[in-house]
Amino acid sequence: MQIPRPAPPASPSGKHAEAVSALLPARRQEFQRALHAWYRAHQRRLPWREAPSLYKTVVSEFMLQQTQVATVLPYFDRWLRALPDFAALAAAPEDRVMKLWEGLGYYSRARNLHRLAHALAALPAPPRSPADWRELPGIGPYTAAAITSIAFGEPAACVDGNVVRILARLTAEPRLFRDGVEAARHFTLLADALIAGSDPGTHNQAMMELGATVCLRQNPRCPDCPVAGFCAARADGSPERLPRLKPKAVERKAVARAWCQQDGRLLLRRSHAGAKRLAGLHELPEASELGVDVVPASLLAVKRRTITRFQITESIYAVPPSAALRARVARDPALGWVPLAQLDHLTLSGPHKRWIRELLDR
Ligand code: ADE
Repeated sequence: MQIPRPAPPASPSGKHAEAVSALLPARRQEFQRALHAWYRAHQRRLPWREAPSLYKTVVSEFMLQQTQVATVLPYFDRWLRALPDFAALAAAPEDRVMKLWEGLGYYSRARNLHRLAHALAALPAPPRSPADWRELPGIGPYTAAAITSIAFGEPAACVDGNVVRILARLTAEPRLFRDGVEAARHFTLLADALIAGSDPGTHNQAMMELGATVCLRQNPRCPDCPVAGFCAARADGSPERLPRLKPKAVERKAVARAWCQQDGRLLLRRSHAGAKRLAGLHELPEASELGVDVVPASLLAVKRRTITRFQITESIYAVPPSAALRARVARDPALGWVPLAQLDHLTLSGPHKRWIRELLDR
């Protein structure tokens, strides 16, 4: 499978092409020099940048998908101590892998990383091109570009939300994008033009770093920006209004959850191994799947959280372990009574782990 990069048009047109040509070729080098010198002086010390290896690059890129650096740091350290290389990861049982990921969210990443280690073990050597990496589990265009540029020096530009923000501001792009995917597609041509002829790993990491620490969504730190002199939005005085993305429609959902205890055991549901979300993870069951009606008087807690575009209100109700409920649990292999002393050995989704601890501590 090929990376879906638009082929450069024979004669690019409009403002975008102007922006590309304005940075090519003479100013591109100037841009790279300013950006890379800033990165060398100001980069954060991050554990995957110390004695870098393909394994550290891959693990960090999986963990950093949709997740902030500060959240990833303790997970990355623990992971590397427990599973120091691809061979250790490939040999680890899935439960151990999921337990190490517990609380980091988007659990399909952990399963894909595990599958990736198995896939690499079956190859004579890890592939080097972004197109070949795209064939492996859990690897999209951004991750393929990040891994191959950092580990092998492939000139593939990373285009994520941070990079889109930088490029939209550099070019003062006025277009309203439907979503981040459309915006990333739009800016891939410019991102590829900017990386040409440079040290691609340094260039991509410098762009990531600039987006994460200087070219911020709100209150960008333009006086500290090494490429402010190239920035059309800075020149017109309002970089924070770019990029322009259609607001996401928020959907509200209400979920009633059951808290059901019996003889020092708690009723939990384990999602089946192939489930799209939360596969193999334990959660408090929904009242509806137990066939029980909850009553307002038994409300224990109300929790709110946002997952992608959903704003979810989860109400947790005490439910008595009736004979009918116990019979239902006995019939459903996804439901089980878990001794409280064993809760720490199971893998729970992050919010459920917190809620359960909080309710047990009352
Ligand atoms: N976000 C995604 N990849 C990253 C990296 N290698 N360093 C810092 N932030 C990142």
